[in-house]
Amino acid sequence: MTRRVMVAPSILGCDQGDLTAESLRLQRAGADMIHLDVMDGVFVPVLTVGAGVAAAICPNLNIPVDAHLMVREPSRLIPAFAQAGCEYITVHAEIEPHLDRLLRSIKAAGCRAGLALNPSTPVDVLRWVAPVLDLVLIMTVNPGYGGQEHMTHLHSKITAARELLDGSGGKSTLISVDGGVNDSNSRDLVKAGADILVAGSFITGSSDPAEAMRRLR
Ligand code: DX5
Ligand code: ZN
Repeated sequence: MTRRVMVAPSILGCDQGDLTAESLRLQRAGADMIHLDVMDGVFVPVLTVGAGVAAAICPNLNIPVDAHLMVREPSRLIPAFAQAGCEYITVHAEIEPHLDRLLRSIKAAGCRAGLALNPSTPVDVLRWVAPVLDLVLIMTVNPGYGGQEHMTHLHSKITAARELLDGSGGKSTLISVDGGVNDSNSRDLVKAGADILVAGSFITGSSDPAEAMRRLR
């Protein structure tokens, strides 16, 4: 049986003055989902966009938006990103002592709950929250910048996450991979268990995003 892999372009490297048009262009080119990188300048050094941008983008699209919140205090932002129309809200495991509560608050706001793991974060954190999780985002770079080198040694972490989720009530939880994804690692990522490939520079830096997404698939 062949699994259909989904491709989620990150719009981090797009024209920041026209993210609605850029997202629509990626939707037309075949994107399954739009990945919105939200950085607070504290959890990661860079500052990017807020819920206002999500509110501008979401109503124009008929594909889901995943807000990847690389922020220190996500609980303050969840209501606004939910209101903006993001289908998925993904928070980082490293910042939160009350992960279960935080993930449930995403669901209570009407969204699907995602949990991102930095390269150094063990998969064990998934065990007791698996039933609440709709998506796990495995970072294959240290978050903060696009265009970084993909960490191949983390492919076994994807497989470990899949096994752990399957064994702890998270069989339907999707695994997404983010960081340096391109056409030379996509096959291995899917083999390791990735359901969604997030890619920034490989897609948006290409002169033909539709072809770049086909190559990833
Ligand atoms: C990194 C972001 C990624 C990044 C992906 O902090 O979370 O989504 O923009 O960009 P590439 O594919 O260029 O690594
Ligand atoms: Zn991201």
